[in-house]
Amino acid sequence: MARVIGVFSGKGGVGKTTAVVNIGATLAYDFDKSVTVVDTNTSSSCLSLHLGMHYSPLTINHLLKKEAKYEDVVETHGSGMNVIPASIRLNDSFVDMSNLPDVVKEASKTSEIVLLDTAPSIGSETLWSLKSCDEAVIITNPDLPSVVEALKMIKLADEYDVKVLGVVINKVKRKNSLTVEEIKRICNTEVISLIPLDFNVEDSIKQNIPIVHNRPFSRSSLALKELAAKIAGESYKPTPMERFRSVLGV
Ligand SMILES: Nc1ncnc2c1ncn2[C@@H]1O[C@H](COP(=O)(O)OP(=O)(O)OP(=O)(O)O)[C@@H](O)[C@H]1O
Ligand SMILES: [Mg+2]
Repeated sequence: MARVIGVFSGKGGVGKTTAVVNIGATLAYDFDKSVTVVDTNTSSSCLSLHLGMHYSPLTINHLLKKEAKYEDVVETHGSGMNVIPASIRLNDSFVDMSNLPDVVKEASKTSEIVLLDTAPSIGSETLWSLKSCDEAVIITNPDLPSVVEALKMIKLADEYDVKVLGVVINKVKRKNSLTVEEIKRICNTEVISLIPLDFNVEDSIKQNIPIVHNRPFSRSSLALKELAAKIAGESYKPTPMERFRSVLGV
């Protein structure tokens, strides 16, 4: 039986898609896991853009409308992870999400881990994603508006009986408006990862390559790999050489 893990945030733009793409690519390529990443952000999707897979003629939007078969939609990325992309077309944006649990069940048949890249805010995409998963990772940035939205998501996950694995703080700078301790206290939840603000992330998206493979020794890549390992219960600690290269930025 696959583990189905939703990546949620409440607030938009905090780094859900970046996390899903890089956790998925790490688990598939570096840890040899069978992983499927599913874009459940059907109205403002961008998972396929991170991976250069936005030319797909068939998407989850077609699956949800029962206009395509699962095996005709799923694609394999170069990292080895399976991808169910969502449509980036305006005309496909309005779709009834109620068939999402069936799509996720289908993905579970061929995966050890299914990761859901969810939509911001608390609309039907988020609620059906919560109904489709057993576990959740909550992403926030170290600022009050993101953390307040993260707290709402933690409470909502609890209402839906979804186990929260922890909070990931993304885009961490040298000096942040909220400290890790303050975020822990507000969310009353374990913080499982700190991912630094890293301008290589944006560059990797532009190149359609997950940063863990485009810039494997960047500080954010090491943090994303450690997070992927933690989620999968694998052991990974950057070697002294990886740490050294990440400090040098090469
Ligand atoms: N660690 C990071 N350092 C710097 N920039 C980052 C980092 N993580 C994400 N970003 C940038 O933040 C932006 C939003 O990232 P992303 O699309 O992953 O967020 P999201 O939560 O999925 O957004 P949405 O809610 O719209 O789906 C992107 O431009 C990305 O380059
Ligand atoms: Mg996103």
